[in-house]
Order: sequence, then structure tokens, then C-alpha cells
Amino acid sequence: MLVGLQHVSTVFPGQAPRVLSGMRPTGRLHLGHYHGVLKNWVKLQTEYECFFFVADWHALTTHYNEPHVIEENVWDMVIDWLAAGVDPNSATLFIQSRIPEHAELHVLLSMITPLSWLERVPSYKDQQAQLKDRDLSTFGFLGYPLLQGADILIYRAAMVPVGEDQVAHVELTREVARRFNHLYGREPDYEARAEEAIKQIGKKNGKLYHELRRAYLERGDREALTTARALLERQKNITLGDKERLFGYLEGGGKIILPEPAALLAPTARMPGLDGRKMSKSYDNVIALRDDPAVIENKLKTMPTDPARVRRTDPGDPGKCPVWPFHLVYSDDKTRAWADQGCRSAGIGCLECKRPMIEAVLAELKPIQERAAEFARDPQLVRNIVAEGGKRAREIAGETLADVRAAMGLGYS
Ligand code: TRP
Ligand code: SF4
Repeated sequence: MLVGLQHVSTVFPGQAPRVLSGMRPTGRLHLGHYHGVLKNWVKLQTEYECFFFVADWHALTTHYNEPHVIEENVWDMVIDWLAAGVDPNSATLFIQSRIPEHAELHVLLSMITPLSWLERVPSYKDQQAQLKDRDLSTFGFLGYPLLQGADILIYRAAMVPVGEDQVAHVELTREVARRFNHLYGREPDYEARAEEAIKQIGKKNGKLYHELRRAYLERGDREALTTARALLERQKNITLGDKERLFGYLEGGGKIILPEPAALLAPTARMPGLDGRKMSKSYDNVIALRDDPAVIENKLKTMPTDPARVRRTDPGDPGKCPVWPFHLVYSDDKTRAWADQGCRSAGIGCLECKRPMIEAVLAELKPIQERAAEFARDPQLVRNIVAEGGKRAREIAGETLADVRAAMGLGYS
């Protein structure tokens, strides 16, 4: 599901929309991450230009007094991504703190972000209340969503796959982008510059552009808008700045320097933990992707079931059993029908019921663990992948930042 879809790809319609997401390196990845996030990334990378990064600065906002946690988890997290099928040939992988442009954009955006916008983001107060053992009354923590906004806007990402809890951060990002474009997208001589840029695309194209623009602005003809965008996309002889100017001019407004992103909610595969609550390290109810198979088997064998089944002869209700969501993810219809019927009639025991699900979990994790072991044996390869991704990311980040600096009066050379 897309939140804010109408803005997707406002800048360069010809190109596959850019997708960006980050993950905080605060612990080992588990099945919740795999089903809730990684499988979606693996799919997205085949359809879009994807950027995935380790949000180590974001981890520091809450774990500033435990730097070792971050250090220990950064590379393991990248290994888990790769093992899960994130492909460095399709997606760009990097570490946030290696791209200082994120920080500069964060500072620049902080100039125009009202304090009240940050204070009213729900996660700000919620997290402070929930993580009582940490002092989160810091400047860094208040700025968390704006830093996330900088992460997104620096790549002019159209789509941001996130969980429900992050939608408010993407919404803030949209508001900041809008404010930015409003403040800086309107150069005083905007109109004249746009008309000047039109001359660069040739007489015929220029005339067509004007006609299409009028069709859209005067009659709301969306087809004309699409055609005009495609026309611009084909132009090779104009600068990036002029191109952006003409994309913005098409819609009547100013130059869109920072396009508004849309949140992309993952198709929620509900993968709760061993006790039925959300799978989370803090509940100690996880199956880590790299848990030893014997440990996984033991965790699953001993996970709780419907409390009504005290004895083997007591019938149960799958709806009240933490094992059932595992069957929903891992079993086919036939196995599910067998488990459901066997549970309700006390025809099967719980261990018997779990058996096919345990086998399916182990089978799913086997190739992932094998790949993880390969990458773990070759740390240099992993570092090279991240260095390579960082280089690509920095190039794009640098382009955006140059536009932002110039727009804010810092374009000295
Ligand atoms: N805040 C996100 C989380 O906790 C991580 C994150 C940081 C992120 N920057 C981002 C996600 C940019 C998407 C886009 O999950
Ligand atoms: Fe749960 Fe299966 Fe036992 Fe029923 S038989 S309580 S579904 S583990």
C-alpha cells in the first residue's frame, strides 16, 4: 500500500522510481525482519532502483552509550541482508555514516523545520515513555525523524518501504520537502529562467511543451502532463537544473528541488514471535536467521501452545495457539487443514502438529545460513560491496546537496 501515491516520481518520470530504506543495526536479524522487511526488499530490487543502508546514526540516537552494540551489528546486518537475497548487483548497499552528505542535509533542513513539527511526531513521546531506562531527552533523538527525512530526500527517493510505525516520519519528510520547495524552489526570475530553458530544447519541442503545459494547467489534462514529462525526459541537451525547472514549471509551481516521497507499506506477513507477541529481541521470543538449527528446533519444540491442551487428549483451538501463525506462514492448505482438524479433535499432539512447520522453517533458513557463512568467511568481500555502494550513493547525494546548497544561498565556488 502506498501512502501519498500521487507524488510518486514527480521529478523524473522516465526513470524507474527510486526506492530507499534503512535499518538500524541494534541486534541480530530474525524471522520477523525476514518476512516483514527483507523479502519485500528482495522483490523491490527487481522492480526499482533500490538503495538500502545501515542507519548507524539512527542507532546512536538511542544507543549512544552502547557504541559496541552498533559496531558489532553493522557487518552482521549486511551479511544477513546478502544472505536473505539482497543483491548488490541490483541494489545499492551502504552505511549511513559513510555518506556525510546526509548530515549536511540534516543541518540545512533543520533551519526550516519548526520545532513543533518534531515534537508532535508520535514516536518521539512514545519511545521516551517506552524506553524508560534510556535518557532520550537529547537533541539527536528529537531530530531522529528529520535525519530520516534527510536520508530520503538526499536520494530524491520516490518510495520508502517502512513499517506502520514509520509512516509519520515519511509524512514529516513530505512536509519538510514541501516547505523547502516552497521557500527555495521559486527563484525571483523563475518564469524568465523557465522560458529561457525552453529555448534550449528547440523550437518544435518548445512549442509542444507550451501547448501541453497549457492543456494541463488550463484544462487539467493529465495525459498532456504525462506526454510533456516524457518529452522532457528525452531531452539530452539541457542541464539537470533546467530539466527540474521545466518539470516544476509544467505544474505551474516552482522548481521541485526535493520531491515528496511516498511511504510504501510492506504487504504484512504477520510473523509474531514464539510467544505470540511481536517478534522482538526485547521480548526474547525470536528465531534469529543465524541461530543454529538445533537451537531453532529446540525453540520451536518448546514454544507454548494453546493452554487448553494440558493433556494430549484435551482438544485445542488453533486460534489461541502461538504456533498457528507459523502454520499460516509456513504450511500449505493441506497441512493446515490437517493441523486444524487434529488440534480440535485432539487427534494429534502438539509436537506432531509442529513437526511440518519446524521442517519448513529449517528448510527456509538452510540456504540463507549457507550464504551467510560464505559471506562471513570473506569479510573483505562484504566491505567491498559496501564501499562500492557507498561510492554510488555519494555521487547521487552530492548532486542533490549541490542543488540544495545553491538554493539556500550557499553555492559559492
Ligand atoms: N527509522 C527507521 C527504523 O527504525 C530506519 C531508517 C532510518 C529509515 N532512516 C531511514 C527507514 C530512511 C527508511 C528511510 O526502522
Ligand atoms: Fe497449537 Fe497445533 Fe497444539 Fe493445536 S495442536 S495447540 S495448533 S501446536
